[in-house]
Amino acid sequence: MSTVDATHDLSRAVTAEELKQKLGSFGQLLAPGKIVKGSASYIVKEQGEKKDKNDAITDRIRGLYALDDDELGHTTTGHSCVTSLDYDLAHKTGSDLLYGEILPSGVSKLLDSRHLDAAGATSVYDLGMGLGKLALQAYLEFPNLEKVVGVELSVARTARGMAALARMAESESERFSVLTDENCTAVRLTEEEQIIETTTKPVSLKYKRMAVQVEEKRPGRERVLEFRHQNLFETVDALDADIIICETHFPDDSLPKLCDFLNRMKTGARLLTYENLDSVYQRLHRDIPFQRLEVNTVDDKVFTSWATNRGHRFHLWRKLKSGTSVTSSRNSGNGNVNGSSHSSGHGKACMKSANKD
Ligand SMILES: C[S@@+](CC[C@H](N)C(=O)[O-])C[C@H]1O[C@@H](n2cnc3c(N)ncnc32)[C@H](O)[C@@H]1O
Repeated sequence: MSTVDATHDLSRAVTAEELKQKLGSFGQLLAPGKIVKGSASYIVKEQGEKKDKNDAITDRIRGLYALDDDELGHTTTGHSCVTSLDYDLAHKTGSDLLYGEILPSGVSKLLDSRHLDAAGATSVYDLGMGLGKLALQAYLEFPNLEKVVGVELSVARTARGMAALARMAESESERFSVLTDENCTAVRLTEEEQIIETTTKPVSLKYKRMAVQVEEKRPGRERVLEFRHQNLFETVDALDADIIICETHFPDDSLPKLCDFLNRMKTGARLLTYENLDSVYQRLHRDIPFQRLEVNTVDDKVFTSWATNRGHRFHLWRKLKSGTSVTSSRNSGNGNVNGSSHSSGHGKACMKSANKD
């Protein structure tokens, strides 16, 4: 992986094995069990705790990242893997490597029909995907999604996500085709659904007319799961997505750029932000073209790697038609919104809750 703003020419079809070779210096990530874990703590499931329906997906994702359980705290793999190259990129692009993950139960809740409504969408972009677990979960949990794209600035984090994609392609080589580019700055897994249709056809034997059942297979929808090493501000195709997740912290200087970017989202699209856009637009004296989702009150919290007791409240929005805006008092979701401005500057810092966890 080299440049951060590369346009990705995904024309090279490779096998999972070739992808592993292409990932080259990141190859050590691809041997199961060799991911270097931080000294994070892990959730211990109580004996006899009921498994929910998404446990199979969660277990599968952990397997793809060679983890035994969810990582918690401030020293997860995502925190500890960053390198000086990542810090340079963050500095050059006016970005922040602040890290934390939404836990699987939180991802399911945020994607449900009352929140981001992934079941009613065809495309999801995670802008600042970290290791890519959230994007992977969205893809596996919602078969209706045709395109799930994760974008990340940190080379080390992106590489871990790509390693997981390589494992996924390897374990189901019949299911996925793999595409990448010259420098492995993006990896795309594509699967084609097969539609099996059974029809009854009459056949005429010499003295009888009979009917037989004929099974026909034809290609159905194509589904894409893609991870890119890319500056999210360069990800202009995200602006057509039904759902954007931007669980990302921005330095103050980059907030005008963030507003300019998000203003270009399509009408009706749903957005999750770590930043409270209401305060951001207010501070910049701009009209906010987003309406907070009704469900997103101050108590609308989910468990994250840094908030495992009371959870963290993200900010959920619907994009309004251009030229329309909402007053901030109507948008505050019970009026008790804290600005989330805090400076951190580096990836080892952990995200924090507006309300103490
Ligand atoms: C809190 S983490 C998101 C983790 C992920 N969504 C999850 O829950 O597992 C935010 C990520 O955004 C990334 N990031 C920050 N600025 C970025 C930029 N300009 N372009 C792409 N990624 C960026 C950071 O490196 C970090 O990994």
